[in-house]
Amino acid sequence: MQKLKIFRYLPGQDPYWKDYEVEAGPDDMVLTLLNRIRETIDSTLAYRFSCRSAVCGSCAMLINGKPRLACQTRLREVAGEVVTLAPLTGMKVIKDLIVDMEPYWNNLKRAMPWLEEAPDSKDAVITSKTTDLQESICACILCASCYAACPETGAQRSYLGPHAIMEGYRILHDPRDTAAKKRLDVLAGPDGAWHCDGAFGCIGACPWDVSPVKYLAKVRTESMAVRFGKVKLEELCKEGGDK
Ligand code: FES
Repeated sequence: MQKLKIFRYLPGQDPYWKDYEVEAGPDDMVLTLLNRIRETIDSTLAYRFSCRSAVCGSCAMLINGKPRLACQTRLREVAGEVVTLAPLTGMKVIKDLIVDMEPYWNNLKRAMPWLEEAPDSKDAVITSKTTDLQESICACILCASCYAACPETGAQRSYLGPHAIMEGYRILHDPRDTAAKKRLDVLAGPDGAWHCDGAFGCIGACPWDVSPVKYLAKVRTESMAVRFGKVKLEELCKEGGDK
């Protein structure tokens, strides 16, 4: 049997912690325990999940205070006498373990993580450097773990957040894109990479070991290089960026 302490909240009521005890083995995933609780003990418990294979990102929550995917975390990795489950921080709680991710998605949109292609973009040369960068950032499943681990996103909602800066950087270095200037202005603007206070909460938060802080640092150095004329923005973007 495993004891769990789970954060409960219903709009209009005070939040509280509720204790559960559920049958469990060391290899059970935390998500399995949640499903067991919902099916056999308490059907009012609310949480998100979909793929059950660490791909959709919807089951991210604080497990013993750390952002993790419930479907990727085995009980033996976190088991103590009691395992605590709470919603991700930095976002408003809608119900129990479910948070309102709208600020997260809105900030991502501000970084324009899509290509604005020119009519002749099919002639652009895509180097292995570009594809390496794309591949390493595409491992991000947008689960918001890094966003929740960052103290700046909760304190300052206008801050883009590590996920948005990283996704914007990915497109910034795609030679088919024509919106580099606009995009860099956002990524290196007042709500962008310079806003990071260096708490580095995002380091180690990603379930797929993507390191957003690395790309945040690149936005800082590259924006300075462009600003002081060390490199032309078009050349920088064509280069493909470093993964
Ligand atoms: Fe999809 Fe966990 S259910 S990542």
